[in-house]
Amino acid sequence: EIVKRCRGKNLHFSNFIKENIEKADMIFISVNTPTKEKGLGAGKASNLKWVEACARQVAKYSSRHTIVVEKSTLPVRTAEVIKSILDSSQEEILNNNENKKKSFDVLSNPEFLSEGTAIKDLLYPDRVLIGGDNQRAINLLSNIYLKWVPKDKIIETNIWSSELAKLTANAFLAQRISSINSIGALCEATGADVREVSRAIGSDSRIGSKFLDAGPGFGGSCFKKDILNLVYLCEYFGLKEVADYWHEVVKLNTWHQKRISKLIVKKLFGTLTNKKIVILGFAFKNNTNDTRESAAIQICKDLIDEGAILFIHDPKVDPKQISLDLGISPIKNINQEYKNDFNKGIWHFAENISEAFIGSDAVLILTEWDQYKDINWFEVSKLMRKPSWVFDARSIINPTSMKNTNINFWRIGEGLLNEDNIFF
Ligand code: UDX
Repeated sequence: EIVKRCRGKNLHFSNFIKENIEKADMIFISVNTPTKEKGLGAGKASNLKWVEACARQVAKYSSRHTIVVEKSTLPVRTAEVIKSILDSSQEEILNNNENKKKSFDVLSNPEFLSEGTAIKDLLYPDRVLIGGDNQRAINLLSNIYLKWVPKDKIIETNIWSSELAKLTANAFLAQRISSINSIGALCEATGADVREVSRAIGSDSRIGSKFLDAGPGFGGSCFKKDILNLVYLCEYFGLKEVADYWHEVVKLNTWHQKRISKLIVKKLFGTLTNKKIVILGFAFKNNTNDTRESAAIQICKDLIDEGAILFIHDPKVDPKQISLDLGISPIKNINQEYKNDFNKGIWHFAENISEAFIGSDAVLILTEWDQYKDINWFEVSKLMRKPSWVFDARSIINPTSMKNTNINFWRIGEGLLNEDNIFF
């Protein structure tokens, strides 16, 4: 809707890079900065090749004073890299005696929007962060935001603080999730309930109630990448203890995903061979078709390794993406009574959830899509094979809807009081 309203008026798309850079007063670099796959810092550091390529093009084609805004999430002190590329173009001009006058300011203006709520986050941001060392450039960028953001929400910092704040914000959010998931495991062991613990601690205004939902583990394109980037920075600066501390947030997340798949195997009598499990949701959260770092990937891989027959459903994720993520093609045209003669795990994309439930041994909820909240479990229980299990890793099922069904119900972070967990 926004693009439609603005296109051709004050929003234009173009691939004439040279001409548009020449004319621009301000350029936002908003390219991908994925984790490096090889070379120095592989697995942790960000790959800055696209940022560098942009900086080089800006350096080459700009024709006057240009403000370059880092919008991509970058390691701390990347502005310095951009600035040195830009400045070297000035030197070139001097050396070549060209008559062009160009100069640059670099600002950091990290993006905090979340998938699924991007427009809302853009229109009503909690804050806008602008880092830089030239007040005039900061004011020019700030004036753009002032058109719709109140002044007190615009935070000005130095450029390094702004870059670091972005990584830290994501690290803190991810840390809250690892924290609550770790407590969820303890709740299950002791008979406490993680939802009650979340509510109790979240009502302390110093802690706050957001981002305290236990789940299958955080996913998405940012959290893991940004924490690993932070870890790399800390290691680089010799802060081993700090690096270890943040690394634990990611390690706990991986452990937690494994914990869920192991738990399912255990509940289903230690073997999944030829057992049919319906997976509800593959996206890393609801309202997006993005599967990057989704907990569903590791959990489904583990279940397939155990020999399960997975019927995976997601209202928005393309089955081709699931194939890529799992590294195995689906079995097509599977019939409901399918029996797996090869004793190896397989998966099938379930277009229709009701049909998928037929003959299933277990259902596992991994994404909190609204449509899964209204499932009539009494009716589903009649379709499943006994003993049947529902594993709700997102806490979206109201436990009362499980009453009068013969389904064994497991919820994340819900402990049952029994002899085993009395501790003394
Ligand atoms: C995140 C940041 O929120 C955003 O500010 C930044 O700009 C980009 O990274 P996003 O990746 O879109 O946004 O998703 P987010 O809503 O933060 O959720 C990340 C993961 O945490 C999801 O897998 C989600 O399911 C999980 N999560 C979130 C929980 O498990 N429990 C919670 O309480 C909240």
